[in-house]
Amino acid sequence: MAILITGGAGYIGSHTCVELLNAGKEIVVLDNYSNSSPEVNARVKEITGKDFETVECDIRDEKGLHEVFSKYDIDSVIHFAGLKAVGESCQKPLEYYENNIGGTVNLLKVMAAHNVKTIVFSSSATVYGEKNVAPFHEEMEVGGTTNPYGTTKLYIETILQDLWKSDNEWSVSILRYFNPIGAHSSGRIGESPNGIPNNLMPYISQVAVGKREKLSVFGDDYETEDGTGVRDYIHVVDLALGHVVALERAMKINACEVFNLGTGKGVSVLELVHAFEEATGVKVPYVIAPRRPGDIATSYSDASKAERVLGWKATRNAFDACRDTWNWQKNNPDGYSV
Ligand code: NAD
Ligand code: WQD
Repeated sequence: MAILITGGAGYIGSHTCVELLNAGKEIVVLDNYSNSSPEVNARVKEITGKDFETVECDIRDEKGLHEVFSKYDIDSVIHFAGLKAVGESCQKPLEYYENNIGGTVNLLKVMAAHNVKTIVFSSSATVYGEKNVAPFHEEMEVGGTTNPYGTTKLYIETILQDLWKSDNEWSVSILRYFNPIGAHSSGRIGESPNGIPNNLMPYISQVAVGKREKLSVFGDDYETEDGTGVRDYIHVVDLALGHVVALERAMKINACEVFNLGTGKGVSVLELVHAFEEATGVKVPYVIAPRRPGDIATSYSDASKAERVLGWKATRNAFDACRDTWNWQKNNPDGYSV
């Protein structure tokens, strides 16, 4: 029996594949490589010393998905595939709704047709919207997302909940990630954004490696300790390990459950810059710039449910994530495109 990993060649997917393989699971990676490279799979095999099947397929391709489910003995799905750029989603909302929501509905239909009813889904802290006050916990009312990307996550959560209500044989685990950063300690896989990075950590590491001149810190007048935005940065390997336990639980019980995957601690932009400098010995020049539209001051998790129910807890801190990001970035300055 194998786990189908949609978007398995992506940043979080690839790290999760490593941890699943290390845990002795069998996997099939499915990706359309719209935001990744097949080279990732080779590196996951190299890190783990294990082999697995890979399929180039789009989750919107119903026929293609049927073939995959017919060919392999799939018993569960971890669903990472999706578009994730917040700014782009405001320019191209229909692409985001079609790819993320349309693709997910298609995947769920094909799963049901093959009687595969266990799914772990990549949601996001973005579903807590603007109105809730951190720490965010799973029982809070979600909504009020500020961009189409975030809205796709909100709608997909609702679709999964409706599906489960219609048929309790489904087992659904919705994982709300906070801010994933870091890389595998080997430095062989990591985050490889196309073009100018939107997110803080890849931007910092590209400044450090000399690809960008300086970081713009978006606002220093928030109501936070040092005035810069506060986020819950979770090491991608901790996040990956969260998927292993979430899937194991989903295989045992038929429920629809939501878990925050975060550290439970907030770190400001300047604290992350300083942690990076300390972990790497490399200076990160920055300027204070205006606030970025749509940003909130503070976002961090109440991570107690995942610890209580899944027995999962983040064990790596921002310093570890900075060190591992740097190890990846300096050894792969152009990501996978070498
Ligand atoms: P990523 O872009 O690195 O990985 C997504 C993968 O999905 C890519 O390999 C891409 O090629 C593939 N993909 C996209 N559309 C596809 C389609 N239609 N068919 C098949 N494959 C497709 O992103 P990531 O950071 O690894 O994120 C993984 C998931 O986690 C996404 O759903 C994302 O929205 C979610 N998430 C990410 C973050 C974050 O900050 N990185 C935070 C919260 C949630
Ligand atoms: C973090 C902090 C910025 C870049 C986004 C998505 C969210 C989720 C994770 C997928 C903020 C500041 C950033 C820069 C800066 N993705 N910043 N200079 O906005 O918390 O979350 O990624 O689900 O949906 O919105 O992450 O890394 O962009 O920003 O000062 O060049 O860094 O203002 O305070 P964010 P981020």
